[in-house]
Amino acid sequence: MGVLVDIRDVSKIYNPGENEVRALDHVTVSIDEGEYVAIIGQSGSGKSTLMNILGCLDVPTEGEYYLHGKDVMELDDDELSDIRNQEIGFVFQGFNLIANLTAFENVELPLIYRGVRKSKREELSEIALEKVGLGNRMDHKPAEMSGGQQQRVAIARAIAQAPPVILADEPTGNLDSHSTGEIMDILEALHGEGRTVILITHNNEIAARAERTIQIRDGKIVSDSKIVSDSKIVSDGKIVSDSEGNKGYGGENEDEIKEEA
Ligand SMILES: Nc1ncnc2c1ncn2[C@@H]1O[C@H](COP(=O)(O)OP(=O)(O)O)[C@@H](O)[C@H]1O
Ligand SMILES: [Mg+2]
Repeated sequence: MGVLVDIRDVSKIYNPGENEVRALDHVTVSIDEGEYVAIIGQSGSGKSTLMNILGCLDVPTEGEYYLHGKDVMELDDDELSDIRNQEIGFVFQGFNLIANLTAFENVELPLIYRGVRKSKREELSEIALEKVGLGNRMDHKPAEMSGGQQQRVAIARAIAQAPPVILADEPTGNLDSHSTGEIMDILEALHGEGRTVILITHNNEIAARAERTIQIRDGKIVSDSKIVSDSKIVSDGKIVSDSEGNKGYGGENEDEIKEEA
């Protein structure tokens, strides 16, 4: 699989000058197509800032960002908006549904903006709502649905046009544990279909369900661990756990890590 995201030495500074906030501090990370990654960190650590940059909703103050090998800093507003529309499905903590539209209409709306014709829109909206288990709720308005159902509508909206990348910023932050489980199952199924899923969370349990966990603190990446097989975990380039449950023996088997990581 190719490299999807290649971020090099990226910093984001809000309010440059005396009261500046360095929300990202020299972040370098790359994410391959098809990965399922959790970005974890406490509130204020820079997760949303990173997600906004990844999703081309904002640009870095310093550093480089290549998306599919394309230099994002060179793209104009139209090109950035094309990328957002065609490549990325966004899911946020607040579901951002329109209150007076039904589930179906909420999913359909962005397709109208994208110029998809009516019969195709209807087909895509229905398929997406069925995929998130809401085929029987298409005519319900947000107020008639639980938080978990509303978030499923938001996911259906994000995936209706089958974007290859799903960016979810604390998608379960407002949900109870049952609904959280449902949302995580949907994200996992999307990953199973070959999509890249980048999930932002401050919850360790949720992060543990991803294949790779990138931890961010004070705008810096402080760890990056990946499950390379059912039994092996690689953290910052070192094997930290193997099938015998041995932990903490970095250094050995380095060739193997490079091959698999
Ligand atoms: N638009 C903004 N203007 C000024 N400071 C901001 C802005 N957005 C975020 N910040 C600050 O940047 C830091 C990182 O914020 P954020 O990326 O939202 O963190 P997280 O999503 O991990 O909670 C915080 O200190 C936050 O207050
Ligand atoms: Mg945030």
